[in-house]
Amino acid sequence: MSKSDAMQIEGFFDPGTSTVSYIVLDRETRQCAIVDSVLDYDPKSGRTRTTSADKLVTFIQENRLQVQWILETHAHADHLTAAPYLKRKLGGMTGIGEHIRTVQKVFQGVFNLEPQFRSDGSQFDHLFRDGEEFRIGELVARAVHVPGHTPADLAYVIGDAVFVGDTLFMPDVGTARCDFPGGNAHMLYASIRKILSMPRDTRLFMCHDYPANGRAVTFETTVAEQLARNIHVHEGVTEAQFVEMRSKRDATLDMPVLILPAVQVNIRGGELPPREGNGVSYLKIPLDAL
Ligand SMILES: [Fe+2]
Repeated sequence: MSKSDAMQIEGFFDPGTSTVSYIVLDRETRQCAIVDSVLDYDPKSGRTRTTSADKLVTFIQENRLQVQWILETHAHADHLTAAPYLKRKLGGMTGIGEHIRTVQKVFQGVFNLEPQFRSDGSQFDHLFRDGEEFRIGELVARAVHVPGHTPADLAYVIGDAVFVGDTLFMPDVGTARCDFPGGNAHMLYASIRKILSMPRDTRLFMCHDYPANGRAVTFETTVAEQLARNIHVHEGVTEAQFVEMRSKRDATLDMPVLILPAVQVNIRGGELPPREGNGVSYLKIPLDAL
């Protein structure tokens, strides 16, 4: 079995948030990583559920895998991470980019979090530096800093596959927005060029899919396809053109439904806010702040 045959990638699409969670496994050692899990959250009732995360749990248990890593590409604004639930159930180390500290500092202010809240990234087991290598079983993986959507975004390069997070979407959908606190379209352009300078047959796995025109959900493409067909950043689009397009488009977008619940949970590594005296955990809604 060659190294690339040893890698298996399973995508799990969550229709509620259009998020794709992945399990990346090394067939030889049965070790795996989870990328971008989802904790279901119903904003009408304030209730969390683990239906989406339990699909990952079932796959991992049925295939007798050992979880080594529970990875985030970034602190998501459209869904809550299920990382703590999965860690309690399956083990493994949680990880995110080291610049999560910047995101924590910004949103600690936005949410006026309790004084005990730490903006040092210590809620995560590991903070990845740009270019840092790690292993999933015997698969070689590398974290690549791809800021722009947020200051802390990572892409994970594993063998010939890249989990791009919120940088690129499928070619007919385009690219991620850059208007959240700390977002920057110039940086996103540079990050995307970094990804698209990889070999043309590199497989790219999206964090989301928002299919239009009746096409089926899909989340795998290649560098070559993105260069040829991405509606926002195909070959030849200049930085100035991209930034102008992105800024105009972002100005028309509503905030994601779950941005306030999601961000305040995700900067805690997915733990809910500390329970209050009555044993209940509460989310905060800052008024007129975003
Ligand atoms: Fe995102």
